[in-house]
Amino acid sequence: MKTAICPGSFDPVTLGHIDIIRRASQLFDRVIVVVMTNSAKSPLFTQVERLELLNRAIREEGLSGVVVDCYDGLLADYAKQCNADVIVKGLRAVTDFEYEFQMALTNSKLNPSAETVFLTTSAEHMYLSSSLVKQVAHYGGDISAFVPACILPDIIAKYRKDD
Ligand code: PNS
Repeated sequence: MKTAICPGSFDPVTLGHIDIIRRASQLFDRVIVVVMTNSAKSPLFTQVERLELLNRAIREEGLSGVVVDCYDGLLADYAKQCNADVIVKGLRAVTDFEYEFQMALTNSKLNPSAETVFLTTSAEHMYLSSSLVKQVAHYGGDISAFVPACILPDIIAKYRKDD
């Protein structure tokens, strides 16, 4: 039985994330999607909110064998705790590569038993990121093509509250 982890900050979850999670769930027996902290970013949603939005989106997609969790700490340590075989990351473009390569090598030093596997983002979602979604939403643009429909009201409400 192979366990994979899909880590991210998911601030908020996008259709690009869902695509990677769905494909990971077709490759591995158990997939744990884990909401983590990226110390380089200041999130719009709290960790609890990000977890709730992700949970809702995954339930709506009806992805089997996928569970959602959150963790404040090192990804390598979390992978050890869950006996994960694989860390799945999505690669959008060459611009992602250097950062992801550095993280993969660091994680494999800290936890050699978890292998990082990169899935290439589908062409449809290549340009998509949570930051882009937040920028468009901030200026009142239409983000319905970028995020799961069930979390759309929460993102809009977040920006209304901040006005
Ligand atoms: O969606 P993101 O922001 O690209 O996800 C990055 C994330 C959260 C996976 C990364 O920052 C992370 O692994 N954070 C946990 C702390 C950690 O292990 N940092 C060292 C990685 S080399």
